[in-house]
Formats: sequence, C-alpha cells, structure tokens
Amino acid sequence: MTALKHLLSIADLGPGGLEDLLDLTDSFVEVSERRIPKVPTLRGKTVVSLFYEESTRTRLSFESAAKRLSADTMNFTVGTSSVKKGESLRDTVTTIEAMGVDAIVVRHASAGVPWQVAQWVGASVINAGDGWHEHPTQAILDCYTIRQRLGSLVDRHIAIVGDVKHSRVARSDVQAFTALGATVTLVAPPTLLPPSLVGWPVTVSHDLDDVLPKVDVVYVLRMQRERMTESLLPSLREYTSTYGLTAERARKLSQHALVMHPGPMNRGVEIAAEVADLPSSVITRQVANGVAVRMAVLFRLLGSGMELAHG
Ligand code: NCD
Repeated sequence: MTALKHLLSIADLGPGGLEDLLDLTDSFVEVSERRIPKVPTLRGKTVVSLFYEESTRTRLSFESAAKRLSADTMNFTVGTSSVKKGESLRDTVTTIEAMGVDAIVVRHASAGVPWQVAQWVGASVINAGDGWHEHPTQAILDCYTIRQRLGSLVDRHIAIVGDVKHSRVARSDVQAFTALGATVTLVAPPTLLPPSLVGWPVTVSHDLDDVLPKVDVVYVLRMQRERMTESLLPSLREYTSTYGLTAERARKLSQHALVMHPGPMNRGVEIAAEVADLPSSVITRQVANGVAVRMAVLFRLLGSGMELAHG
C-alpha cells in the first residue's frame, strides 16, 4: 500500500486501497468493542474538523474516531467563528494550520473545496462531503457494512433509490460499490437524476416495484430539499407513493436483502418508519461502522510507520 496523504475522492483509493481500508477497519471494530475502546496510536497528533455545513453523524464520528486513537481534536463551527466577520476560507485554513494540525476534516457546500484546502496546507485533508460531489468516508462505511452482512460485494446487485441528483453519497457509493464488483441500478424520477449519466457504470430504472425483488441491497437516499432550487416533484406525497420504501414495498425484497440509508432520514417520505426499524435495516450499523472506518482512514493518513497495537 503506497502512502496516502489525503482522502478526497474514492478514485484516490482504487479497488486495492478500498480493500486495504476495509481490512484495516476490522481491527478498529475490534478496538471499538473493547471495554476501554481506545489505543494510543495517534497520541500527539491533532485532528481539526472544519465544517461549513450542518452535520450530526459525520462530525461526531470523526471526533470519536480521533479520540479512540488518542489524537487531540479541535472543532471549527462556522456559526461561532471569524467567518461571521468575513474571514476568507484561505485565511481561516492558514490560521488553523499555524496552530499545528496534522489532519483537517472538511465539509463544505461547494464542490472542490477539500482539493483547494489540500493545495494550501501541509496537513492531510479528508473530504467529509463537498456539495453534490463526493463523500468518500460514507461510501467506505457503506461498503464495510455490506461486506460485514453479505460477505462480499462481488456480483451483488444494489439499488440506489431517490434523490441521486443532489447526492454526494450516491456519487461516491457508485464508484466504491462498482470498484468492489457490485452492479448498481439507480431508481429515481428523471428530474432527480443527474442531467448526464455518461461515465456512470449504472443502469437506470423508474420502477421500484420491479427492481426490489432482484436486489441484495436497497440504498435509500434522503430527499435533499435544501439543495433544490426549483420544483422537481409534483408533491412529496406523490414521490412517496411512487418511490418511497413503504412497508408494502419492503415485503417485495428477498429475505437476505439489506435496507440502508446514510441519514438523516425523513421517515414517512423516502422510507417508512417501520421499514427503517426492520431487522433487515442496517442503518444504525452503518453509523457504528462509521467510527471504525474513520479510525482506519486517520490511521492510514497519519500513522505511517506506526504499529497497530493489539491486545
Ligand atoms: C449525508 C450528507 O450529508 O451528505 N449525510 C451523512 O453524511 N451521513 C447525506 C444527506 O445529507 O442526505
């Protein structure tokens, strides 16, 4: 495995890099299950999260991952920072770097910001979601969860359902799932698909009822209303009746099939409350695995030359 400086995109990893992180995650799941889920691996390193957009899971998950590795953490929140006084992104990043940080975890509403930050700093940069573009650690935790429950992604059929157009999760997931040998069908109304799917290794369907019995995983996306500048749907009720994973639809899934969602869920819109709580739903498992996956990512970026402590 060649040294990895930043994690900006799934394409940075390739299938080998992805497999390596999934294998490494196994060790950190084991650490997370210990009575004291903490190892000294990144003692003396500092990880800062620079979040220009809301987050619950991703922010807490990175923070918890850094702490379990004994790194120091700093949190930057736009609402309480000098950004409110007009400080630019570049000055903000330079200020943070001057304090001596080893990794910067960036979330921003504009695509490409993590790449920009990576050019300005010597620290490692991790993309925690940039606009509609990419969310690589979400895709890695999704792959890990599927592998944990189904053994492997090879020849598995995964349906990604809903608001693909605005979804950075879908863009990273499609790359990661297919790199690991799965086939992907996007299921969405034409208005919620990207304008061009050239280069996407997927098939498209507009008939969820037809797709459900054929898949190993149904991955439901959030309806990202905050990103919609125009009216793309006649009504949410109509969306739910055609593309929502209702309890009746979920009965069409085969017995081994998994239900996934990146969170936050709009229960009753894209997924029925009772479906989110079915035994086949691995939504809280995704969150739990997210911490171990981010430990693996931080270890890969910052822990080169270090031994992973066992026992
Ligand atoms: C996603 C995000 O912010 O991209 N959430 C997450 O990180 N788990 C998905 C979403 O907001 O719909």
